[in-house]
Amino acid sequence: MTFARDLDFSGKTVLVTGAANGFGAATSKLLFEHGARLVLADREEESLNRIARELNATAHVYEQSDPASIQRLASAVGEIDILINNAGILVAKPLLETSIEDIQQLINVDFVGAAVMMKLIGAGMVKRQRGVVLSIGSQTAFCGGENRAIYAAAKAAISQLTRSLAVEWGSSGVRVVCLAPGRALTRMTMTSTALPGSTLDRGLSRVPLGRWGTPEEIAKMIVFLVSDAASYVTGETVIADGGYVLG
Ligand SMILES: NC(=O)c1ccc[n+]([C@@H]2O[C@H](COP(=O)([O-])OP(=O)(O)OC[C@H]3O[C@@H](n4cnc5c(N)ncnc54)[C@H](O)[C@@H]3O)[C@@H](O)[C@H]2O)c1
Repeated sequence: MTFARDLDFSGKTVLVTGAANGFGAATSKLLFEHGARLVLADREEESLNRIARELNATAHVYEQSDPASIQRLASAVGEIDILINNAGILVAKPLLETSIEDIQQLINVDFVGAAVMMKLIGAGMVKRQRGVVLSIGSQTAFCGGENRAIYAAAKAAISQLTRSLAVEWGSSGVRVVCLAPGRALTRMTMTSTALPGSTLDRGLSRVPLGRWGTPEEIAKMIVFLVSDAASYVTGETVIADGGYVLG
């Protein structure tokens, strides 16, 4: 069966950033089940090592807000066939209550670090004339959101970067895609919903499917998009949000 073969990652090396929790952990587990060799990266050493042992993976501790740390990671990992550019943070506050340091940190992790990662890992793919880069965007890139001003802007920038790199790298056979999840229940959202101004219940009434997503549902979309089953998709941001952005 060709479709089943397309979802077989045997012989492929996948770098997953932010692999210690949430979407990154769920995606790593699914890729492992589908035969991938995994290189996992995160700043949280203990939980990273735990999942790396479970999935027979190589683990690298790094800091996404520090380009020199990303450079060390890129030099250490060797040839990567697929990058899941997933590590990210959320500062869930109205802009007027967000410090300048928080703004800079959010942009440094969610945009600058993600862009540096694409550049440094993508370089090898372009050279070898094959590879896939998938970054995690957000539904907020399309509809904005209360308490999400800088976060939504950083994620919109990731979608635009995806489009441009798809054009720059297309002739090298490298696909560049973005997955924009709606709210799914991970540590990131469980924590932010506890903050003042939480919109969890109000937000849910806007989801046509009537529920929040799960990390496993997001992982399945990620694995599909980086697989050969999606071989004619590039530059696209695919939204998986239960219909939230429809209004
Ligand atoms: N959960 C959601 O509803 C949701 C929705 C849309 C987009 N996203 C995006 O999905 C991605 C994963 O989020 P999640 O919900 O799984 O969050 P999470 O907090 O469960 O996991 C994020 C992982 O990234 C790592 N990380 C964070 N900052 C880092 C840094 N500076 N350097 C290295 N590693 C770092 C964390 O240690 C953690 O393991 C993020 O980019 C997030 O913005 C999440």
